[in-house]
Amino acid sequence: MLIWHLGADGRLLGATQLATEQHGYLHSFAMTDRHLVFILMPFRFSEAGAFFERMHFAPDLPCRVAVVPKSAPDTVRWFDVDFAAVYHFGDAFERGGEIHVRAVRHTDPAGASSPMGATMRGEREPAPTSGQLRTLRLDLRSGRARWQAHADHVMEFPLFDPRTPGDRPARLYAPTAVAPDVPYFNAVMSFDPERDRRQVHRYGDRVLAEEHVFVPRPGSRKPGQGWLVGTLLDADRGRSGLAVLDAEHVDDGPLAEAWLPYTFPLGFHGTFAGA
Ligand SMILES: [Fe+2]
Repeated sequence: MLIWHLGADGRLLGATQLATEQHGYLHSFAMTDRHLVFILMPFRFSEAGAFFERMHFAPDLPCRVAVVPKSAPDTVRWFDVDFAAVYHFGDAFERGGEIHVRAVRHTDPAGASSPMGATMRGEREPAPTSGQLRTLRLDLRSGRARWQAHADHVMEFPLFDPRTPGDRPARLYAPTAVAPDVPYFNAVMSFDPERDRRQVHRYGDRVLAEEHVFVPRPGSRKPGQGWLVGTLLDADRGRSGLAVLDAEHVDDGPLAEAWLPYTFPLGFHGTFAGA
């Protein structure tokens, strides 16, 4: 596996070569001010089928974690940590000689590897219960790695204000599921894992909420001052929409909503860049 390091202007800054025996599934990665962190999930291949059908995670094996200094992209330090199925990361920061990486860990690796698989087979999808926040703690002195638990709020696709200083944790913004038993996210929350404080806005039983992008308020400096912008699918009314919430007052609900008279395909990930 080869990882390219590109500057904002597209210039090649360097490359990291991971040895072929260090294989594992990689979906995305996290970074602090000084390091890039890659979690490789171990898997075994079965004989037949499409790529994801053949790939079976191996929870009996540890995840291998590659830590790459931004200042020396051709060097890698390896850690081993208990298996976890991890696709999406929140923030990462460094404090007291440790790297802290916030990630959404799935306790059902098979379900996580084919999301909405039951729906596509025409079966009723179980409620999303397996995505929960964990912090991967990498001790740069001892070389040890461990998972730190947080409150078990269901979530996925966490984002944060990138202005948060690199030595402290960020507030996370993520879709979540609020009862009743629905097979999709129907709410959005802001979540402070350090204090287990959260604010939640529930859109409704039959409204699917996707990733909510953080948009800094122009002229603001304090991390967290801004808006959350998220896409929605209202199944009953057959329409797709966009909601804007105050990131500091998520439980007040949207400041604005706009709806199309039709639906558009669900999305994956987005980001905001000021023009
Ligand atoms: Fe993704």
